Amino acid sequence: MGYPLTLQLRDRRVLVVGGGRVAATRVCRLLADGAHVTVVAPEVGEVVAALVAEGRVTWLARGYQSTDLMQPQRAWLVHTATGDHTVDSEVADDCEGLGIWCVRADDGARSAAWSPAVANGSAGTPAEGLQIAVTGDRDPRRARAVRDAILAGLESGVLPVRRVRRVPGTTKPGRVYLVGGGPGDPGLLTVRGRALLAAADVVVADRLGPTDVLADLDPDVLVLDVGKRPGAHPVPQEEINALLVEHASAGRTVVRLKGGDPFVLGRGGEEALHCQAHGIPVEVVPGVTSAVSVPAAAGIPVTHRGITTSFVVSSAHDGGAVAAQAPLDATLVLLMGVSGIGETAARLMDAGRDPATPVAFIERGWTPTQRTTVTTLEKAAWAVEHEQVKSPAVVVVGDVVRLRETLGDLR
Ligand SMILES: C[S@@+](CC[C@H](N)C(=O)[O-])C[C@H]1O[C@@H](n2cnc3c(N)ncnc32)[C@H](O)[C@@H]1O
Repeated sequence: MGYPLTLQLRDRRVLVVGGGRVAATRVCRLLADGAHVTVVAPEVGEVVAALVAEGRVTWLARGYQSTDLMQPQRAWLVHTATGDHTVDSEVADDCEGLGIWCVRADDGARSAAWSPAVANGSAGTPAEGLQIAVTGDRDPRRARAVRDAILAGLESGVLPVRRVRRVPGTTKPGRVYLVGGGPGDPGLLTVRGRALLAAADVVVADRLGPTDVLADLDPDVLVLDVGKRPGAHPVPQEEINALLVEHASAGRTVVRLKGGDPFVLGRGGEEALHCQAHGIPVEVVPGVTSAVSVPAAAGIPVTHRGITTSFVVSSAHDGGAVAAQAPLDATLVLLMGVSGIGETAARLMDAGRDPATPVAFIERGWTPTQRTTVTTLEKAAWAVEHEQVKSPAVVVVGDVVRLRETLGDLR
């Protein structure tokens, strides 16, 4: 495979034999690293010509001569890319005799050295400050493809990476990212959300959502579990708000990881307002809401041509008061609707919903223990009791539930 090494070429002489497209790429890269570049070639392409005109490259407008390796000073490194196998071989042989590393573009297998596919991580991503260099069986196309895949994985946060550590004293002002984690499957967390998690100093996490991804975080990331369970609120909302402000004020990058979408019955708006009121910049990263994705997982589209063109999402904490005002042909999606289903169902029937309307309870959507119970409005409370339906569950009321008979689970 060879011995990997990174060369410091600043202010060192490098000879490039050849002046075409391949040589131009090498020349640009070498100049970016601060090398003193001499090009030897009877003719050069547009790129090299422009660099020569700018005085950034020395051009010997003739064919290669062995003395070019040593004059005016010995070259530290040589690239040969003439397009002529005989010349490239001659350059490589001369280098071999003088103990100068030579990278030949014409024949990777016979080259003494070769350059990897290289990319630098973009600022503001988890790959910031990293250089990705890939070599492998001297196949440049494969190396480039692997390089791109690694870089995309690092920048998106899909590959778990160590974060870019800040140097003490250079901390930028902290920021709060309200990240929607989706319904629980890590694959349904957005690329942006994942990248921000990989760069977080502090993660304030809910019970619902993709909690598995927390295991990929650096051990020194502070993870605060503020998850709420029905009837038990381990960390009151005011305290969550205060935690966000406290950590961001100390210059930390805070990810508030919430289940589903932060702005759908998630109190994300309150958290954003609180942070802004304390001068903390906030960014929201929308998430895949359980209101739509959990019914989908159970084979229930919330709208369907010929059945309904609208759906209403509501918290059922009000006993169905708001849902009862929805148009009768709209699908109802009720969150937090399990414990109060008796009162909710009664109110919906009072408002004119047919007692035979199909109802689905989808518990723990997008997790390995997802379970769906289908019943009717008039039997909904009994079904919850009889089937021991538990929160978290999404309740869907409407004729779209019947589609599940054909579609079945879709995850
Ligand atoms: C406080 S709300 C948060 C909703 C969230 N912001 C969203 O967009 O999905 C919590 C309720 O969402 C529903 N829920 C969230 N994730 C769920 C899941 N994976 N399976 C079933 N229900 C879920 C349940 O009704 C639960 O009681």
